[in-house]
Amino acid sequence: MEVCMETQVVQVLDLQRDQKNIAAAATLLREGGLVVLPTETVYGIGANALDPMAVVKIFKAKGRPQDNPLIVHIARLEDITQLVTEFPPTAKALAERFWPGPLTIILRKSSLVPGAVSAGLDTVAVRMPSHPVARAIISQSGVPVAAPSANLSGSPSPTTAQHCIFDLSGQVDMIVDSGWCSVGVESTVVTLAGDVPRLLRPGAVTPEQLRQVLGEIEVDAAVAHKHDDSRPAASPGMKYKHYAPRARLVLVHGSLEKFTEYVHSNNTDGVFALVFDEDKTKLHMPCVSYGSQHSPQQQARRLFSALRELDVQDAAQVFARAPSTAGMGLAVYNRLLRAASFEEIYL
Ligand code: TXA
Ligand code: MG
Repeated sequence: MEVCMETQVVQVLDLQRDQKNIAAAATLLREGGLVVLPTETVYGIGANALDPMAVVKIFKAKGRPQDNPLIVHIARLEDITQLVTEFPPTAKALAERFWPGPLTIILRKSSLVPGAVSAGLDTVAVRMPSHPVARAIISQSGVPVAAPSANLSGSPSPTTAQHCIFDLSGQVDMIVDSGWCSVGVESTVVTLAGDVPRLLRPGAVTPEQLRQVLGEIEVDAAVAHKHDDSRPAASPGMKYKHYAPRARLVLVHGSLEKFTEYVHSNNTDGVFALVFDEDKTKLHMPCVSYGSQHSPQQQARRLFSALRELDVQDAAQVFARAPSTAGMGLAVYNRLLRAASFEEIYL
């Protein structure tokens, strides 16, 4: 990558003690810089959403396709009004129930939102994160902050500052290290720009929770299936290969017994199993685990880190045990399916 700047890495573990670092990050954002900041979902690479020059730098740093729009992050509810043409009752109800938190709401955009943020669409995605450090930085910057996940385009999203340093060192002005992200997968994305609310990306806010507030919602076909390239994508990000380690990854459905038999009969050099914690001692081959079979929350928190670990260990071929899709499991399954480029087998 051409751009190479000095990237300052600072820690914010305590809002009071590390106030200076928060203020420095906020100033950089206000002045058009790029700052990697922690959120409760994953780390984001932030820029002033109202400054097209700053926003363009995000796409360069990540190697992100220009047609993939960004989420705008706010710290106070009233900051949404300048970004959208209308803040309908359904959006208010969602915001009241889930903000601050891991939910992104898509609405019709106002003319204040640069085309670079919305990638030419007439809508804008907005989220109010709950991470105290994200909130402090955004509110002190005094500007809405456009922030995609702070990984190189196509790589697993970052859940620690080390992941961001690995991907983006030399491409951003500052990386704010606040340790692990508590959720671990990106926010739930729901669009209210059409006739019926539609789930575009599953996350910690589950379809069941959305239905409690909205009544009926549609789940976009791209949540659990490959995008049909002959049609425009409701969410452009869903059509790209994503979250992928360098290894070829195949998602395997079936019992541990069948899985074991299958991977052992395909166990050549560089083959790894991506399994649940409970399976690890039973497999007798190179394994990385991504949480308990019984905890979708833990799987979400550990998945991206596990995918990166497979690269560190130089895996060439990975067979991954498929998670349950109940509740938050749908988000874990959705990410794994993309990491596998939609390659699944049922035993
Ligand atoms: O949890 C998150 O949402 C993280 C943290 C940093 O907040 N951000 C994040 O951003 O995941 P990103 O850019 O990696 O994913 C945003 C997704 C993409 O799939 C994009 O296509 C979609 O949201 N999106 C953004 N604006 C949209 C719009 N106006 N219409 C449809 N999809 C949109
Ligand atoms: Mg992303």
